[in-house]
Amino acid sequence: MPKGLEGVVAANSSICYIDGDAGVLAYRGIDIHELAEKSTFEETCYLLWFGRLPNRDELSDLTRRLAVERKMDPAIYDMMRQIPRTATPMEVLRTAVSALSFYDIDAKAVDHDSNVRKAISLTSQIPMIVAGFDRIRKGKSVTPPNPSLSHAANFLLMLNGEKPTATAEKALDVALILHADHEFNASTFAARVTAATLSDMHSAITSATGALKGPLHGGANEEVLTMLEQIKADGSGPQKFVDLAKKKDSGFRLMGFGHRVYKNYDPRAKIIKEAAYQVFEVTGKSPLIDVALELEKIALDDEYFVKRRLYPNVDFYSGIIYDAMGFPVEMFPVLFAIPRTSGWMAQWAEMVLDEEQRIARPKQVYIGHGERAYLPLDARRDAGPGETEVRGPL
Ligand code: CMC
Repeated sequence: MPKGLEGVVAANSSICYIDGDAGVLAYRGIDIHELAEKSTFEETCYLLWFGRLPNRDELSDLTRRLAVERKMDPAIYDMMRQIPRTATPMEVLRTAVSALSFYDIDAKAVDHDSNVRKAISLTSQIPMIVAGFDRIRKGKSVTPPNPSLSHAANFLLMLNGEKPTATAEKALDVALILHADHEFNASTFAARVTAATLSDMHSAITSATGALKGPLHGGANEEVLTMLEQIKADGSGPQKFVDLAKKKDSGFRLMGFGHRVYKNYDPRAKIIKEAAYQVFEVTGKSPLIDVALELEKIALDDEYFVKRRLYPNVDFYSGIIYDAMGFPVEMFPVLFAIPRTSGWMAQWAEMVLDEEQRIARPKQVYIGHGERAYLPLDARRDAGPGETEVRGPL
């Protein structure tokens, strides 16, 4: 039985191509390096959703529609005002995305035009939720959107209350492109499983958001920054942490290292590492970059990591850029959710439009008790130490 469904083929797809041994990633056949250098997030959305690059009119139409859909029912902001300030941005996003369906007149519609409109709408609304909650929790007013700005620039405006610099806009746009899709990762798979029950689009995106939140997936960028700060504060250098990660019983892993698919350098990590230096030209060099570089060097020379083909993944350097740009660390996972929404939409559409798809229903290997009688309450004894038959923490 393949643990974690490793190697299991779940469906045909024409959206995203990965060669994990060679470190290649392409959306609809176009290499991620080219997209990061030459494309924009809006253009990448078109590519993912409609299967090819848009012409000038198609791109300007999508850009206009994304801007038009930058609207939010005030009830969503009111709901966010009631949420405890201790809630994390990702928890709020998961809840608010689900609530968006109450205010979408097409929530239950499944025709093509409604699907396209909802995909555009959710892509525009998710950054608005993220920016809106950040301002609400800081006691600030929600910044109105600006339809003349790009997706990246509008998000930064709504978050910070001022237009971003061209460098900040470009750095975020590149990060959005790199995170837009990644074939059958855990959150996308969660969206596809939900879609296969013929549930609605908002439910699929809520499932995906919950899956992305975990520290082994979209939550890893936050953990990387915490780890790098710990290493810096410790002062004795990364070697100690590399050694700790090699001990199975330590429960510690090098966050931002390893990947189910990449057995080579994650191409996204390479691009984001280069982009970090462009950000530093404006913000000044982050002291964490030297810690990260030293950690990477030690790990890549270490037999444990070499043998298991563990390389830096996209999350290893993304947090350093976000930190330099002034994002609070607890916001890093939602910075992953904002672009990945576009990929979830493409995957959702591919799933529901494929007439050969069936509801996902794997089999289990039963390892529980054999048949036994039902004991009346008074006849049962307390389980002694070590007698529990239930596997798991509950
Ligand atoms: N540090 C130390 N050892 C590791 C690490 C790590 N970061 N990652 C994997 N290993 C070891 C693991 O202990 C195992 O060793 P052994 O074969 O001796 O039992 C071997 O490498 C294979 O690991 P695995 O857990 O079976 O691999 P997986 O494919 O199930 O998990 C992963 C992939 C990304 C969850 C894992 O590498 C990991 O936990 N990395 C840290 C978290 C992280 O950076 N996540 C972000 C992933 S990229 C963004 C995204 O798409 O979400």
